[in-house]
Amino acid sequence: MTKQLITSALPYVNGLPHLGHLIGCLLPADVYARYLRQKGEDVLFVGGTDEHGTPSEVGAAKEGMDVAEYCKKYHALHKQMYDGFNISFDCFGGTSSDANKELTYRIFNGLDQNGYITEKITKQAYSADDGMFLPDSYVVGTCPYCGYEKAKGDQCEKCTKLLDPTELINPKSAISGSSNIEIKETKHLFLQLPKMQADLEKWIETKKGIWPDIAYTTAKKWLKEGLQERGITRDLKWGFPVPKDGFEGKVFYVWFDAPIGYIGITKECLDQKGEHWEDWWLNPDEVRHTEFMGKDNIPFHTVFFPASLRGSGEKWTEVSFLKGFNFLNFAGGKFSKSAQRGIFLDQAVAEYPADYWRYWLMANAPESDDTNFTIDLFAATINKDLNDVLGNFINRVLKMSEKNFGTHVPAQGTITTDETELYQTLNVLVADYVKYMDGLEFRKALASLREIWVAGNNYIAKTEPWKAAKTDLARAGTILNTGFNLIRLYALLNLPVMPTVAQKMLDILGLKPETVDFAGFDASSFLSFLKGGEAFTMTEPLFQKVTPERVEELKIKYKEA
Ligand code: MF3
Ligand code: ZN
Repeated sequence: MTKQLITSALPYVNGLPHLGHLIGCLLPADVYARYLRQKGEDVLFVGGTDEHGTPSEVGAAKEGMDVAEYCKKYHALHKQMYDGFNISFDCFGGTSSDANKELTYRIFNGLDQNGYITEKITKQAYSADDGMFLPDSYVVGTCPYCGYEKAKGDQCEKCTKLLDPTELINPKSAISGSSNIEIKETKHLFLQLPKMQADLEKWIETKKGIWPDIAYTTAKKWLKEGLQERGITRDLKWGFPVPKDGFEGKVFYVWFDAPIGYIGITKECLDQKGEHWEDWWLNPDEVRHTEFMGKDNIPFHTVFFPASLRGSGEKWTEVSFLKGFNFLNFAGGKFSKSAQRGIFLDQAVAEYPADYWRYWLMANAPESDDTNFTIDLFAATINKDLNDVLGNFINRVLKMSEKNFGTHVPAQGTITTDETELYQTLNVLVADYVKYMDGLEFRKALASLREIWVAGNNYIAKTEPWKAAKTDLARAGTILNTGFNLIRLYALLNLPVMPTVAQKMLDILGLKPETVDFAGFDASSFLSFLKGGEAFTMTEPLFQKVTPERVEELKIKYKEA
């Protein structure tokens, strides 16, 4: 059986994750992992934090902490927030581990031996007061093109011109504000991407029509522009020291060791369990690797990382399917920690259960375009889909059954055309759901899921068990028996997206999650699982509405107005 390796991009450890990070990689990866596990597949879901780079150094300095301690602190906070959303990682780690260092060196040495690494002297801004070379974006000054005074050394945010830090007028350090900046020469290592251009082009061509458009076209765009050699070392203290003579005091570039981190995290995790990371990462013929990420990460995962793996001379497991996402905006603008715009993960679960957010985000995943989150949209979806459709269905079945039959599932009597029509509808909709989930088309999968719930409500509305209960109790029993079987079906279908709700629904019937493959779904046999006589437990409504008062309150609290 194919092994299913799933990776979610590793958010930077500094700064805490918000709803945009969640839908950009973590949540869809989790839903997909849960979906495959439910089918009985052998899944390894890997995630963690990206810990190197200047922002970690700067963040630690601000808090007066040692960088490694700082990373540990924020790593734990990330983990806590993901736990709050029930992200079911099999392995969760960070990129600064010893295991990742070992793998980074292994891949670097392979690249070096195969002639893909070259040296070059470059010019860079040095800040004597900070005692360090400044990364381009940490030099600020006046843009020579538009006069904007807070332009960054890599790009002017105002006029969008790409800049070289040496062009800035009155350059200053973004770290200390010091204007004591000199341009110094420094030696760095470069990955020879141009040497791999043809090979990568051939490979990406095999993904045409298979990968989502955004993944394929972004990769193509980079390749078309022609690959440039890319610096893989930096003059920083924090990072993996470069294991080469003449490069003392330098470390690897954050984007060099970050994706290798997927492998390092797996190694650290499986070593502890006495399992073999190589079964996943040096096993391309038996592993299907699905990657999840935001669109800004795509070039690194389609060009830079594959080139590092290919050039190292070993047969690594590469990405089989790349699921890229557009951005989630918050009420028409960007999420921003500094401007306190948006909803961060700890805030979200303090307002409403994780499953509400999980459902909203997956139903509105920014697959084909950037998507806007607003409190109004959130409230409308929760109130309609979860309360009026799904929640209402469950309440009605439970209440009517208890009233007429007590707390045991009524018997399934004679099946009529009402049921066979329902079966036909469900067979089509569940087949759609499977097709979309298998194809990682999440919006469509969730639309099918919602239609499957609607079919249950329509069935109850049409068969009117409350009337049947007065004239033909056996008929009412058959309808409500179907209702209970639908609750079981919905619980199992909901499981990847709303794991907590799904468990509560199974609890009603005293059932446990089970391995089920919905491919080839046959409603007639599936909805005959509960024959009648099984005990059930009445439960409080599973969902609560987002009231107009709460909507106003949340808009003010999260500055949406
Ligand atoms: N830290 C990067 C970001 O948030 C993502 C790194 S993905 C990795 O944009 F796999 F390379 F680590
Ligand atoms: Zn400018």
